[in-house]
Amino acid sequence: MKKILITGALGQIGSELTVKLRDIYGQDNVIATDIRQTNSEAAVNGPFEILDVMDANRMVELAKEYNVDTIMHMAALLSATAETKPVFAWNLNMGGLMNALETARELNLQFFTPSSIGAFGPNTPKDNTPQDTIQRPTTMYGVNKVAGELLADYYFHRFGVDTRGVRFPGLISYVTPPGGGTTDYAVEIYYEAIKKGQYSSYINKGTYMDMMYMPDALGAIIDLMEADPSKLIHRNAFNVTAMSFDPEQLAAEIRKHIPGFELSYEVDPVRQAIADSWPNSIDASAAAEEWGFKAKYDIGSMTADMLEKLKVKL
Ligand code: SER
Repeated sequence: MKKILITGALGQIGSELTVKLRDIYGQDNVIATDIRQTNSEAAVNGPFEILDVMDANRMVELAKEYNVDTIMHMAALLSATAETKPVFAWNLNMGGLMNALETARELNLQFFTPSSIGAFGPNTPKDNTPQDTIQRPTTMYGVNKVAGELLADYYFHRFGVDTRGVRFPGLISYVTPPGGGTTDYAVEIYYEAIKKGQYSSYINKGTYMDMMYMPDALGAIIDLMEADPSKLIHRNAFNVTAMSFDPEQLAAEIRKHIPGFELSYEVDPVRQAIADSWPNSIDASAAAEEWGFKAKYDIGSMTADMLEKLKVKL
């Protein structure tokens, strides 16, 4: 990885990934692209180009123009939005992915795209969900993610494209808020705890999902991309996780810093059903064995850092 093109560079992951990669590989060696431009750091502290991932020609042209050797395809619609617009989600998530894979094949680029805990479904084993297991998701997002995992494997086996990927859990960060995901409550709760001292959760108590703090997610992407390919038995869709909690546990952790914090519930049936179809906790031992994955943050250290950083930001 020396020169990298990122799609969805102003999104939840991309906005921080871009900045981190520029720190490591050099400002001019990370080309940020997104469908819109903002004045966020990723858009202004290095090369930026407008790119609609549905535009296959422009994607290839930009990759050629900047002479990149790696493409990181981050542009996608998240789970809850995908349920409200399933046809659009299919077109964007699968069309964008195919264009990125084709760009990688045509120009011989290393390739990364994230899958998700959303690639599992109601008949997947719920606890300590194995790396290789039943995947029959019941959401459009999940269908897209499973298809994406298979396509990335296909491009490796069929064309020799160096495809790599992880299954991310809910990602938590104080920088760019997620939009339209099911795990977003675990980000919103921190903002509301600081602003109002209370939060009404759309996910019910007792609903456990895997989560990870953004610095660990960025570290996982970079470590996997830099990993020795001969050690990779899997290439795509490695389970990665740092913690699993329900809203009550997160609230208890927040109360260690904001003692009067109040949590109430107004459950959203759509997002609750999505969460209920996902694992309680996944097993990340394949990622640990094959490329040394290990998360640094747990619920306690993440909460302390989130609240400290958000207090400054807000
Ligand atoms: N955070 C994502 C979502 O909730 C999961 O991949 O949609």
